[in-house]
Amino acid sequence: MSQKQRKILVSSALPYANGSIHMGHLVEYLQTDIWVRFQKLRGHRCTYVCASDSHGTPIMLKARELDISPEALTEKVSEEFVRDFKDFGIEFDNYHTTHSEENEALVTEIYTRLHDGGDIYTRNIEQFYDEKEGMFLPDRFVRGTCPVCKSEDQYGDSCEVCGATYGPDDLIDPISVLSRTAPVKRESEHYFFRLSRYEQQLRTWMDDAALDKNMVAKLDEWFATGLQDWDISRDAPYFGFRIPGTEDKYFYVWLDAPVGYMASFKNLCDRDSSLDFDEYWDANSDAEVYHFIGKDIMYFHTLFWPAVLKGAGYRPPSSVFAHGFLTVNGQKMSKTRGTFINARTYLDHLNPSHLRYYYAAKLGPTIEDIDLSLDDFVARVNSDLVGKLVNIASRCAGFVAKRFAGRLADALPDPDLFAEFTDCSEIIAEHFERREYSKAMRMIMSLADKANRYIDENKPWVMIKDEAKTAEVQQVCTQGLNMFRSLMIYLSPVIPAVAEDACRFLGEEEWRWDNATSPLLGTVIKKFKPLLTRVEPEQVSAMVEQSKESLAGKSSVAPAEHDDTISIDDFMKVDLRIARIENAEAVEGADKLLALTLDTGDRTRSVFAGIKAAYDPQTLIGRHVVVAANLAPRKMRFGVSEGMVLAAGPGGEDIFLLSPDDGAKPGMRVK
Ligand code: MSP
Ligand code: ZN
Repeated sequence: MSQKQRKILVSSALPYANGSIHMGHLVEYLQTDIWVRFQKLRGHRCTYVCASDSHGTPIMLKARELDISPEALTEKVSEEFVRDFKDFGIEFDNYHTTHSEENEALVTEIYTRLHDGGDIYTRNIEQFYDEKEGMFLPDRFVRGTCPVCKSEDQYGDSCEVCGATYGPDDLIDPISVLSRTAPVKRESEHYFFRLSRYEQQLRTWMDDAALDKNMVAKLDEWFATGLQDWDISRDAPYFGFRIPGTEDKYFYVWLDAPVGYMASFKNLCDRDSSLDFDEYWDANSDAEVYHFIGKDIMYFHTLFWPAVLKGAGYRPPSSVFAHGFLTVNGQKMSKTRGTFINARTYLDHLNPSHLRYYYAAKLGPTIEDIDLSLDDFVARVNSDLVGKLVNIASRCAGFVAKRFAGRLADALPDPDLFAEFTDCSEIIAEHFERREYSKAMRMIMSLADKANRYIDENKPWVMIKDEAKTAEVQQVCTQGLNMFRSLMIYLSPVIPAVAEDACRFLGEEEWRWDNATSPLLGTVIKKFKPLLTRVEPEQVSAMVEQSKESLAGKSSVAPAEHDDTISIDDFMKVDLRIARIENAEAVEGADKLLALTLDTGDRTRSVFAGIKAAYDPQTLIGRHVVVAANLAPRKMRFGVSEGMVLAAGPGGEDIFLLSPDDGAKPGMRVK
């Protein structure tokens, strides 16, 4: 198969340089690494770049807290990242940082081009300002009571309890997390990028990029609500690049972060004369550029980034590949359960090849979440990798070494069977290309079953006892080892370390994808050493235990982690009762609230509920609802609220009051 050599530039999202790489991140870096290794194995020129995302308020503040410079912090964290990635076999062609000369030069150039093209304008905006700290507060640094469900101590952008999203302005009793004082509103000038201009170009881009259908649906939603211009500036103090022509305005971290992909590549091109930056980034480039990202950062990559690139005269990405989020044992990773596992903790207990295989077995091309079920992990790895795959080699290698001085036979006894393995080569390749890794793994494992069946049927361990069948043993084992070899070549993007050992064991130097289709005959193989060992459930429990411990060690700095279970006693403390809505009316000056008068059996009380978008107050009067009746009364901007009405739904117009069936009376306990 002769194929044109493609020029491909690939990136994974740039990890924030203020934490640790964890199992969730690894979904992305492993998904990308497998794809890149596959492309290289196919003979394409594929370059994989990444970098630390080093700017922004959280990093600035973390450095302050540790009393070091943000540069020193991000360098130290990046060193750890690089070690973690390397130990998981994630092989970047370049790993850089967004706080680099190349990035500053590119961001400045891009900004200047956008500015000259009329894509930038300024406007004054009002924002929360912490007077004590002397700085404007990003949404996440303001906390308060959720305007929808009234849960206290929620972030300024979304509520962790009811999932509603809103702005910091909507919070009830907002407070700065930095100084714990109430922030004030202050005006300042901000720089905006005219994203709204790019709608048509983005629609065209989206079609060309052949995005996954769930991503297309998301984009359609965004188009439908109308594209908002993008605030790309932040006020000092800020760790980032200063906007040219200003004294104290900085580029928002999300502007220079994706430019970091280009900058990392630029940094590599400056060292490697066989790569030409312009060849990949010119507006009319014929190279391919792909960004692997998580579904949470789609907006930045499918709207802002292609628009910024187009506006600045560069080519947009060929496509953006988004994956879902990792859950462990079916739930969000949790420090209390020990399922918030750092990359390093995994490495302390388990073999990285095991995780690489497991993720591959689970990954598809969509934004569906993927689950790491720890029991399934143990079972799957042991059965597939050890039980099926490595077993093929270990059942054949010994005879070849002992009886034939390591020499393989000169012909395959069953070329038709081998052809079944080679016929799949292009199908498996297509699966890798489309990021259908789980399909590729399934096909490979069903071939492994075939290989094992062949050995079971031929029983070399019986044949070897019969002098007349010696030559046949060599042939059968040669057949077995060649089937093993083809499968190992197919798997080499997934488990490169194991494949490399297998390659050496078979007496070869290096594999390319096409090698899988021509058998190895008449050559001498090396002594077989076990390529992989089983995972023991104890190793997994030890890892989980250690993940719990690392939290205890950190608790002095980290905010207390909430366990997400409560005891039955805690639950019983909540006095849930039936209430009848006596009156409901809008609250003047509040966008979302209704003031309800409730009959809770014992008395009437007033409760504010953030359900205005979902219900016309008139239709509520006379309805029975469920209330939490023993909440401490809370003073709100519009009065005192004496309880909370229970409802379900994401917020906005989609809120559904829980109403009991007919017959419920005010005051009845809910159990
Ligand atoms: N710094 C930004 C990306 C800038 S790209 C120009 C960022 N960093 S991150 O460290 O929070 O996340 C890095 C990548 O890891 C993102 O693509 C994110 O979606 C992914 N993941 C982080 N946690 C994850 C899971 N729990 N599961 C799967 N992927 C996750 O975002
Ligand atoms: Zn809420």
